[in-house]
Amino acid sequence: MKAQKARILVVDDEPLVLDSCRKVLVEAGYDVETASGGQEAIDKLDNNRYDLVLLDLKMPDVDGLEVLDRARKNSPTTVVAMITGYGTVETAVEAMKNGAYDYISKPISASSLEMLAKRALETARLQKELALAQREKENFIRTIYHEFKSPIADITLHLRTLKKVLPLDEKQQRTLSLCEKRLIPLKELTEDLLQMTRAQFTQQQKKMATVDLLDLAKLAAASHTASAAEANVTIEIDPASESISINTEREGIMTVLNNLIRNAIRYNKPGGSVKLKTGQSGDSAWIEVSDTGIGIAEEHQALIFDEFYRVRDGMTKDIYGTGLGLSIVKRILDSLKGGIALESELRKGSAFRVSFPLKSDTHRKHGGTVV
Ligand SMILES: Nc1ncnc2c1ncn2[C@@H]1O[C@H](COP(=O)(O)OP(=O)(O)OP(=O)(O)O)[C@@H](O)[C@H]1O
Ligand SMILES: [Mg+2]
Repeated sequence: MKAQKARILVVDDEPLVLDSCRKVLVEAGYDVETASGGQEAIDKLDNNRYDLVLLDLKMPDVDGLEVLDRARKNSPTTVVAMITGYGTVETAVEAMKNGAYDYISKPISASSLEMLAKRALETARLQKELALAQREKENFIRTIYHEFKSPIADITLHLRTLKKVLPLDEKQQRTLSLCEKRLIPLKELTEDLLQMTRAQFTQQQKKMATVDLLDLAKLAAASHTASAAEANVTIEIDPASESISINTEREGIMTVLNNLIRNAIRYNKPGGSVKLKTGQSGDSAWIEVSDTGIGIAEEHQALIFDEFYRVRDGMTKDIYGTGLGLSIVKRILDSLKGGIALESELRKGSAFRVSFPLKSDTHRKHGGTVV
């Protein structure tokens, strides 16, 4: 089978540049199309897939940066290289910050154009391979999730039914309760796997909305009151919390909070407490989950955000976990331009503070209340 030629779109309003680039690239064995303006380029990008776009920065109708933006949105694996004229190098640097691969300056020599095309297309090929591997990994994880989810739900239901309908003695009841308990980590693992793939997708599929951090804190705290009570831990909202609206992805923040609260309960001590607080400092809004639990020694503090990392010592040896929760938190926050800071003291407790940059339209409303 013949290998498919790489597809290149050359965009420039100067007919001479356009034609000479096309000739050089066709000669080098590529499938080349041209557009003599920004709007024509956008129309072509909307209807075709290219491996490489060579894009003039300065065009009279639609500016090169706008075309770059469209090319990146339409196909993240398409590589875009800018063509710059005299005095546009600074804009080319800006273009590279916005995702352009490189730039080439006019007058363009045939050899430098060929070299750029070769390098850029190799990058495009690697990007495509990476995207494919990523998709395969996500599909694999999703399949595992679906294959595990329904049997776990069925077994849980059957165990509950057995406990209800059978005349069981105390020992038999205990055995069934133990079976139910052993299913919990499996359920949590499958949920973690799903959240992991979701965190990877959030970049493309974010549903942004204005949310109030204090409302989310209250909601998250309320959904953990039962599990906190079971662990003999109290959970409350700090009364000094402030109501702060930010534009973000609600579901992502809820996953972050749920993971932090789950940890704050799980790594706590009987009789301990978990506190949620929201506030604003400088140009950032924050939400903090603190606990009076076992704390984290300094040498582990940076590592606990890595996938599958768990602190293994006498205090954690009987606590089940997969070590995925905080890596999911980190991934979601990266995609939402948020940050996380940890302060912790061994045997005293930990505080995880999640922060987001504030925009000028963000505002405080009123004080918080205890849940
Ligand atoms: N609030 C906390 N107090 C003390 N240790 C913590 C706390 N939060 C996290 N850790 C430590 O960091 C490790 C990593 O946490 P992470 O949430 O990523 O995984 P996990 O809780 O072990 O498993 P899961 O994937 O179910 O969340 C934990 O195993 C624990 O050792
Ligand atoms: Mg966890």
